Amino acid sequence: MSHEIDALKSQALAELSGSLNMDALRDLEIRYLGKKGLVAGLMAHMRDLPNEQKPAFGQQVNDLKNLLQDKVAALREDLKSVTLLEEVNDPWFDPSLPGTPEPRGALHPLTAMAEEVEGIFRRMGFIVPDYPEAESEFFNFEALNIPGDHPARDMQDTFWLKDGNLLRTHTSPGQVRAMREFAPPFKAIFPGKVYRYEALDASHEHTFHQVEGLLIDREVSVGNLIHSMRVLLSEIFRRDVKIRLRPGYFPFVEPGFELDFECSVCGGTGCSVCKYSGWVELLPCGLVHPNVLRAGGLDPAEWSGWAFGLGLSRLVMMKYRIDDIRHLMGGDLRFLRQFA
Ligand code: DAH
Repeated sequence: MSHEIDALKSQALAELSGSLNMDALRDLEIRYLGKKGLVAGLMAHMRDLPNEQKPAFGQQVNDLKNLLQDKVAALREDLKSVTLLEEVNDPWFDPSLPGTPEPRGALHPLTAMAEEVEGIFRRMGFIVPDYPEAESEFFNFEALNIPGDHPARDMQDTFWLKDGNLLRTHTSPGQVRAMREFAPPFKAIFPGKVYRYEALDASHEHTFHQVEGLLIDREVSVGNLIHSMRVLLSEIFRRDVKIRLRPGYFPFVEPGFELDFECSVCGGTGCSVCKYSGWVELLPCGLVHPNVLRAGGLDPAEWSGWAFGLGLSRLVMMKYRIDDIRHLMGGDLRFLRQFA
């Protein structure tokens, strides 16, 4: 039997010594060393042999297999360096060219900002519940002291859904939901997407992001509110920011305020983001209106609170000096890649 082994060995070595490329080498490897290859085929003769010859025969076939495997591996290495040499010697080969960069993913700037703000508030003991984007008229308006005939409804042009519900125009409906969900005292923020039926321009989008803040406790005052806003703004901006407070009207707070701060896109000189005033409305806030506390199931004689609505989209625009809000949800990769 061993002459068959020798024959196969010479045949294989002869074929492997011819000039080969990678594909031909691979074919030979499969033909000789594959599962159904010629070397494996030799093993089939084993059962015709007398028992005492079987071990020696098996050993010889194994030796042949190892020999051919080593040979193939060595040839493969040779071929690799030949190919490399050919590439390097190619007059068009330019080793100084930059490689192909790996594309890197990153958080969307709005997501990153929401996570940062969330982190700050969590460290101050706030909870972060999540509330629906498709909302009822009751929670979006009525419960917030904005009845059907109230002129304040015009302040927020609404996308109505066919079933009579709506896309929330602000994150404030979470206030009443939170009051019904958690036992006072508590403090919460709820970030999320809001929707308005708007004419689009550099500072108006139909979809944008807010973070609502709500604190419910006994004897909450305007002093508490101002102090809390100062602390959180210095946390968010990690520096002293120039702010101003104006009285503002929102049906769900009394008194209500507009907290503005100096436009960081233009540094106060005026641009399209701040509508050439030098100031950007950052944060409306106020003390929770008694009717809203009642809608939340709380007795205004016992409980009070402050609330704010932070424009997350504006915040991102100021941080990165983005002068057009439409970039944020536009999905243009050339814009987004700058944040990778
Ligand atoms: N929900 C209001 C809006 O989107 C913003 C707002 C104003 C929220 C005053 C508040 C607040 O919590 O106290 O226009």
